[in-house]
Amino acid sequence: MEDDRVVTEAMKSKMVLPSEIRDESELLDVMTSPREPLVHFISGIEGPLVIVGAGGKMGPSLCVLAKRAAEAAGRDLEVIALSRFSNESEREWLNQRGIRTQRFDALDPKDLDALPEASHVVYLVGLKFGTGSNPELTWATNTIAPAGVAHRYSRIPMVALSTGNVYPMVPADSMGSLEQDPLTPIGEYANAAVARERVFGHFSRTLGNPCALLRLNYALDLRYGILVDLCQSILKGQPIDLAMSRANCIWQGDANDRILRSLSLAASPAVSFNLTSPESYAIRDLAERLGAELEMTPKFQGEPSSTALLSDASLLTDRLGEPEIPIDTVIRWTARWMRHGGRTLGRPTKFQIRDGAF
Ligand SMILES: NC(=O)c1ccc[n+]([C@@H]2O[C@H](COP(=O)([O-])OP(=O)(O)OC[C@H]3O[C@@H](n4cnc5c(N)ncnc54)[C@H](OP(=O)(O)O)[C@@H]3O)[C@@H](O)[C@H]2O)c1
Repeated sequence: MEDDRVVTEAMKSKMVLPSEIRDESELLDVMTSPREPLVHFISGIEGPLVIVGAGGKMGPSLCVLAKRAAEAAGRDLEVIALSRFSNESEREWLNQRGIRTQRFDALDPKDLDALPEASHVVYLVGLKFGTGSNPELTWATNTIAPAGVAHRYSRIPMVALSTGNVYPMVPADSMGSLEQDPLTPIGEYANAAVARERVFGHFSRTLGNPCALLRLNYALDLRYGILVDLCQSILKGQPIDLAMSRANCIWQGDANDRILRSLSLAASPAVSFNLTSPESYAIRDLAERLGAELEMTPKFQGEPSSTALLSDASLLTDRLGEPEIPIDTVIRWTARWMRHGGRTLGRPTKFQIRDGAF
């Protein structure tokens, strides 16, 4: 159901979608409006809920979603956001919304000693871009940091983010990789991401940590994501490379909802789930639909390859249901956002990369 109204508190459990999102305040309101299954789940969490690596693209909205879900459940859940907060404004934004923040560098042993108590943990720390110039930091961030946090939060239920990049390419006409498939990607970033999973898996086995590993393929925000990348190419008249012919992607609000609800799936030994759209999308089709909204004709180059980076999300969809926000809605929101000069983060996904070099 869609109309021109802004989402309000009263619409929380039954989401009414605006036809357009005009500014970041409205964007974050939509993205952090909790729905009933999350409100129900979070009512059973004692807290504190600790979000590690909360200063990036997903963390701030995830923290506020958790807080608002607890408020809707009539609970005063303490949500603690930990990060280096390279972007100080994210810290202030969180503080203003009732989230306690704490500076934390996961590679600093002193900071590990000062980690707060938690009933549940969501782990978002990761490093992808810049691997080519500093692979050592990518490996340290994706291995040493998880080891320290997993050790500190022994036996505390945890959801740890991973990535669909842990899989190799699969046939582009397939449903995508399944959780039990071999993790044999190419490139240092992807292999460091495999190592991140293995470190959490190791401590889940040896310390009994309940852990759910979520292999995310491409969150969609209006300020970054595959659709933003495609819009920018269309608006600049730049050709879109079709070699990576298909991709999975999911509205960031839906991804955050599933990350929090996956705390209920944490188990020892650790379990893995693909977190993305139930179906994959052809890049050409996404670009043409964005082009129609923008009233511009996209340019293309290259030939679709027979393989693509795809994940089959059936397992998590069976457990948590379908994502709420349809791709058509996100396409329209993104095109209108970009047409009106909405702010972007300047952090391209580089979804076209096929050689694993980030
Ligand atoms: N967004 C996506 O589409 C996507 C897709 C696939 C997988 N993922 C995974 O999902 C997770 C969250 O995604 P995201 O987009 O929010 O990632 P992100 O923007 O890279 O955020 C991760 C945050 O971790 C923090 N961090 C990095 N090193 C740290 C350290 N040593 N100590 C403490 N904090 C540190 C950084 O924030 P500070 O500098 O403020 O500390 C960083 O912004 C990542 O692990 C990523 O691998 C995301």
